[in-house]
Amino acid sequence: MNIIKVKDYAAMSEKVCTYLIDKIQTLDNPVLGLATGSTPEGMYKCLIEKYNKGEVSFKDVLTFNLDEYVGLEKNDPNSYYFYMNDKLFRHVDVLERNTHLPNGTAENLDQECKDYERVIRDACYVDVQVLGLGLNGHIGFNEPGTPFTSRTHVVELDESTRNANSRFFDSMEDVPAKAITMGIETIMESKEIVLLVYGEKKADAVARLLEGEVSEDFPASVLQQHDYVTIIADEAALSKVGNQILNK
Ligand code: F6R
Repeated sequence: MNIIKVKDYAAMSEKVCTYLIDKIQTLDNPVLGLATGSTPEGMYKCLIEKYNKGEVSFKDVLTFNLDEYVGLEKNDPNSYYFYMNDKLFRHVDVLERNTHLPNGTAENLDQECKDYERVIRDACYVDVQVLGLGLNGHIGFNEPGTPFTSRTHVVELDESTRNANSRFFDSMEDVPAKAITMGIETIMESKEIVLLVYGEKKADAVARLLEGEVSEDFPASVLQQHDYVTIIADEAALSKVGNQILNK
């Protein structure tokens, strides 16, 4: 794994932004895998700024988001559909038909999961998947214990994940109990993965990801088995990682 250590959140956002722009400019029909949450917000702001300056166009870009809550309508401010429009899509020239998120209000959720897999396959898989990291090591909404062989599926969210995400909702009861997420195997099929992490509160998780054993108890550890992973993390997030790993 290639580790890029940056000073702080702003530097992480700028670094991944220029990294993605470089990919968008070099790939023919770039397929980006996108994440939501606090971590990529600065990245999206930076992408919009660069777009406004004419430094990047999204007209040939396809996107696939990692996950979506079950039961939230698209116009619900807490849905990831809403988030993506608000934070990126409506500000740039990406074509709506080229943007994809699992539909958390589909009548048949299992069919929705299969369809999502098919559309990713038809797009010849994700070129660069951006990931955030859950405190419990989740990637997408693949909670500890999820088989590494999982494909897109419906998950019951961990209490700790619902707690962490409750900051966006009026009350804990409003946080959905389920979500649809790309599976671990689906994520691992991405040709390249960029994991973003910032802040001291993720330091234990990053150390376990880099130094711990590969285990389904800590989903992100699977990334040790991917051939092309770049971690862009700030000093605080890397504060518990030994120098022998950082200088490898
Ligand atoms: C979001 C996602 C999650 C988040 C993770 C970190 O689409 O799949 O795995 O990346 O929960 O969230 P933040 O960035 O809010 O700390």
